[in-house]
Amino acid sequence: MSFSYQIKDLSQYKEAYKKSVEDPEGFWSAIANEFIWRKKWDRVLEWNFKKPEIKWFVNAKLNITENCIDRWAETQPNTIALLWEANDPAEPSRSITYRKLLFEVCRFANVLKNNGVKKGDRVCIYMPMIPELMIGILACARIGAIHSVVFGGFSAQSIRDRINDASCSLVLTADGGYRGAKQIPLKEIMDVALRDDTAVKKVIVFKRTGVSVSMQPGRDIWWHDELKKMDDLQSFECTAETMDAEDILFILYTSGSTGKPKGVVLTCGGYMVYTNYTFINVFQYKPRQIFFCTADIGWITGHSYIIYGPLSAGATTTMFEGIPTWPDSGRFWEVVDKHKVNILYTAPTAIRSLMAHGLDPVKDKKLDSLQVIGTVGEPINEEAWHWYHDHIGKKKCPVVDTWWQTETGGIMISNLAGITPQIPSFATLPLPGIQPVLMDENGKIIRGSDAAENALANGKKDTSELLTGNLCIKFPWPGMLRTTYGDHERCRLNYFTSYPGFYFTGDGCFMDTNGNYRITGRVDDVLNVSGHRIGTAEIENAIDMEPGVIESAVVGFPHEIKGQGIYAFVIHAEGKIDEDAARKKIIGAVTLVIGVIAKPDKIQFVAGLPKTRSGKIMRRILRKIAEGETENLGDTSTLLDPSVVEEIRNGKI
Ligand code: WT7
Repeated sequence: MSFSYQIKDLSQYKEAYKKSVEDPEGFWSAIANEFIWRKKWDRVLEWNFKKPEIKWFVNAKLNITENCIDRWAETQPNTIALLWEANDPAEPSRSITYRKLLFEVCRFANVLKNNGVKKGDRVCIYMPMIPELMIGILACARIGAIHSVVFGGFSAQSIRDRINDASCSLVLTADGGYRGAKQIPLKEIMDVALRDDTAVKKVIVFKRTGVSVSMQPGRDIWWHDELKKMDDLQSFECTAETMDAEDILFILYTSGSTGKPKGVVLTCGGYMVYTNYTFINVFQYKPRQIFFCTADIGWITGHSYIIYGPLSAGATTTMFEGIPTWPDSGRFWEVVDKHKVNILYTAPTAIRSLMAHGLDPVKDKKLDSLQVIGTVGEPINEEAWHWYHDHIGKKKCPVVDTWWQTETGGIMISNLAGITPQIPSFATLPLPGIQPVLMDENGKIIRGSDAAENALANGKKDTSELLTGNLCIKFPWPGMLRTTYGDHERCRLNYFTSYPGFYFTGDGCFMDTNGNYRITGRVDDVLNVSGHRIGTAEIENAIDMEPGVIESAVVGFPHEIKGQGIYAFVIHAEGKIDEDAARKKIIGAVTLVIGVIAKPDKIQFVAGLPKTRSGKIMRRILRKIAEGETENLGDTSTLLDPSVVEEIRNGKI
């Protein structure tokens, strides 16, 4: 099937953009009309960024799985929906057609129902990257249960917090998972997470590694036993639950500038339309292409571009269980050749780490199936961009640099492959429907930075200056977050109060004279480590839990592979300590509280932290020291005790 709303050239892009600004409701309803709805909307959009309250496709009814599975199971039943590549190259890959996917999702949806899961219930999913993860997610969506996927790298305590925050009543997990040469004891970690009281009544365990696990009677049940019950009952059909467009589809936790991760809430109708629209347009997806997004489904990229975007387009989506560097650093390229991948979507951190291994692992790979390659997660440096473009895309594949966030649901600013110009290290232009602006420090829109205004002025920017500011969005789009689960005020404070009337992204941005945006990174206390978003406050909380630690301050520093590394300044109660032993303990504490992804790269013990008279830590100074910039520390006169700076600078590691 081809899509009427696929943009085919630059002039169509400009036209679509203009239309989306002048008549957003007409623009989005024309796109939404091509989906399957049980009932169409009464109004396209109701919004108020002050409250905030955002509703798309008001009173429309649908089920996203009918759009992602049933319609393709009917029209192209034998098309492969999911191609799965195991961690171990020797293990056979699996492929699941749309017909089979419908069967599997319905059968497992019946398992969920049989275990008491109802519409609106929250289901926590902590699974390895295997087809059953996708089946579990879609089965939730089928019956209107809200999925909350937790990335496999999070610790027991992080899982417990997320389970409690959303009061999940059921958990999907596996005995273990493979990642490169390692095995992750998922069930064991889950057992620790569930040791204290939670609302969880059932844990369904998929057998993946065969490692022996303890099964708590009455609570823990085997996935295969539950399937067998459905087989015995011949229970293979499951009518999709009718959902309101604004019903919650899922919750996904992400870090902010405070200590506690927040549950970003995305809803059924708008998210479906938006992920589909962006998938088709950014990657210029053509029927029968093989799409491979290397992200983990524990992050938003996996939700939107392994599952919902590609499946809603009837595409073949690839899921890879392993890691790029195992058994060797040619694995990604081997997967591309093996499955004849046409569109590859990965992260700058992966590109940089593979680039560091040189060209040997690439040399014997064909990579001739590739047509479009993309990146996401953090700013891509020019060197990595060129390496990707030259050696993976062989200079013939457009590179899409896609900027977006968990909160945006889908891609916001990106070139469209082969359609709009690509510029190394620039995400370039907003997608139709997206109206970015740059703000100055006084909360005023910087003249010439408003994409919508520029578009309406016929593509001519009204200034020829280079602009920098904080990136905000001034008009709603269907995929955006509606609230943070259980705490609407937090959503308002976090995203809608820094610049009243605007959604604030937390990112700094630069715009060139042609209106292209280049995202420079977070301007809040959020780090982006290997494409993983982690709040400095979260890491500090974890470090402070370690006995003996009085106080800590965490900042980011440029890291060649990870993009940003984690630098912790720690005040310890005892004067002379065995620093290496103390470091090990602190790393242990962080791993326990958050997970391995938040481990500090550097820990410096200090006697004091640079604080203002009001007690605020001056992170600007710490950041500079961590970056190795020890000369121009800026104004330190407002510090309570300027001498600590000297000491910290001298002790830099
Ligand atoms: C933050 C969002 C979007 C899915 C993966 C991350 C940074 C993301 C880019 C890009 C520059 C980027 C931003 C953003 N970011 N993509 N193409 N260029 N920066 O989702 O964990 O919600 O993180 O990642 O800083 O705010 P996330």
